[in-house]
Amino acid sequence: MDKFVIRGGNPLLGTIKISGAKNSALPCMAAAILTEDEVILENIPQVQDIETERKLLVSMGAEVELGYGRAQHRTSIRCAVLSDPVAKYEIVKTMRASSLVLGPLIARTGMARVAMPGGCAIGGRPIDLHIKGLEAMGATITQEHGYLEARAERLKGAHIVFDKITVTGTEDLLMAAALAEGESLFENCAREPEVTDLVALLNAMGAQIEGAGTSTIRIKGVAKLHGARHRINPDRIEAGTFLIAGAITGGDLNIDCCNPEHLGALLGKLEQCGVKLDVGKENVRVHSGGKLQAADISTEEYPGFPTDMQAQFMTLLTQAEGTSVVTENIFENRFMHVGELNRMGANISVSGRTATIRGGAQLQSAAVMCSDLRASAALVLAALVADGESILDRVYHMDRGYEHMEEKLRGVGAQIRRMGDVFGKK
Ligand code: EPZ
Repeated sequence: MDKFVIRGGNPLLGTIKISGAKNSALPCMAAAILTEDEVILENIPQVQDIETERKLLVSMGAEVELGYGRAQHRTSIRCAVLSDPVAKYEIVKTMRASSLVLGPLIARTGMARVAMPGGCAIGGRPIDLHIKGLEAMGATITQEHGYLEARAERLKGAHIVFDKITVTGTEDLLMAAALAEGESLFENCAREPEVTDLVALLNAMGAQIEGAGTSTIRIKGVAKLHGARHRINPDRIEAGTFLIAGAITGGDLNIDCCNPEHLGALLGKLEQCGVKLDVGKENVRVHSGGKLQAADISTEEYPGFPTDMQAQFMTLLTQAEGTSVVTENIFENRFMHVGELNRMGANISVSGRTATIRGGAQLQSAAVMCSDLRASAALVLAALVADGESILDRVYHMDRGYEHMEEKLRGVGAQIRRMGDVFGKK
């Protein structure tokens, strides 16, 4: 398994270009199931989860071309015939977001067989709200041998009020309702930019969806959708991760090709910590404003502080003057990085969903273990400021959602290298 070796201490200087958003690309690739025509997606990040989604679609009979060379961030998907509408366990177990094909498969083919995603490092993560919504649209769903078996003549429009705000739940049901008979009204929807990005693609495919980005969305079902070309949003979590890399190393970084409007809550907290920011239309320059100050954060649904930035921000708070409190409201087990940060000399205590960070610790290099995607990023940030050389094991977690992390960091002066067999060659 690949490892990262990182020598800390260098302030990061220069420009980092942000890739497309993994969490937009995944539902947009699933949306191609809704039509027999070609869907072309641009600004697709080259990360493992995209490769897994490609495998998933191909296993069901789709033709998927992941571009390379100059077209390396373009993908063309054609689901002319879905000979085997089954999301197999071997693929689903490596990526929960595979459950995003459930709604589109039922809407397009009238049936779906999708392996249930098991537990996950950060929480139980059930998909009961996906199932409940599809049943409200008339699907019959049974569970057999670890698979969901779903059937529907044709889905019918429905009035759905989500018990809880769910990002992929909103996306899955939006795709189903796009081809349903009649109108749907969804309330308490997720407002994440990834939902808005998906709806932009669906409407380009001929869907009639209004209200994306708000908690109330109206969908007029149509009989058929057609092909489209769509550019994926920049990755706000990747942008946030590198903003913290610039702030924590006392560097001067320009985070380019991002959308600062999607970063509101994070930018506010960075400024509260005393970080200097120059916000442009498609870039943010981060430079040190002297000693970092403590701040409390509480993760919320968008536009609140994103849970996917909690671990990375906690690393920054280990370097701040004073005591900070971090509350994780979205997932029940998202402090896996705390043990490893404490092994590097941080002073963090956890009680339930709250972590207390006593800042100002000089982090020390150590051999640490990555446990999930964002916890891994938090450990990279810690190693960038630790004295000495740290070894991060199981960086495959990082490869799932960060494109060329080590090259991008090396490009702005970080001492980082990958050890072990290289990430799968094309
Ligand atoms: C999406 O996951 C993202 N993944 C996650 O990013 C992100 O952390 C999460 O939204 C929250 O922002 C993708 O978009 C592929 P949820 P999702 O459904 O949709 C509960 C990353 O690091 N819930 O919004 O799976 C659930 O357990 C990943 O890139 C139910 O109870 O998250 C959680 O507590 C990690 N029943 C809460 O809702 C359901 O049917 C929010 O989860 C669905 C969700």
